[in-house]
Amino acid sequence: MSICGVTIKQPPSHSISFSGEKKVSTTASSANFDQDIKPIFEKHCNPCHFPGGKMYERLPFDQALTIIKNEQGILRRIKDTDEVKIIREFVEENSPSETNNAK
Ligand code: HEC
Repeated sequence: MSICGVTIKQPPSHSISFSGEKKVSTTASSANFDQDIKPIFEKHCNPCHFPGGKMYERLPFDQALTIIKNEQGILRRIKDTDEVKIIREFVEENSPSETNNAK
């Protein structure tokens, strides 16, 4: 991994899957909210959608559910294709399947 400003895409090298063995982890997602998703919003959407910001009450972007529920509006504002991809992935994997219209 490079830290000199160049982002190199690579598969997560540390996730080894054993076939037949069940994962006990609650995060089945390949995208981790705190590690992968939140930093994107911290970078672009600060300070308004973070604590102290004027939109924090209505749309707190430090909460995964806000992202999941507002995917369309959010993806309209994110331009970086890598970021769009990981947000999509995260929302897809974390959407509650039984409620299409979560209120
Ligand atoms: C300068 C402050 C500010 C920043 C930075 C900001 N927002 Fe907002 N955002 C607002 C305000 C104010 C509203 C409510 C008024 C409106 O709807 O335009 C809003 C509303 C929204 C909405 C709901 C309305 C809609 O259009 O769907 C979404 C989704 C949203 N913002 C996403 C984002 C995302 C994603 C980012 C970062 C890429 C971001 N915002 C950055 C101030 C901000």
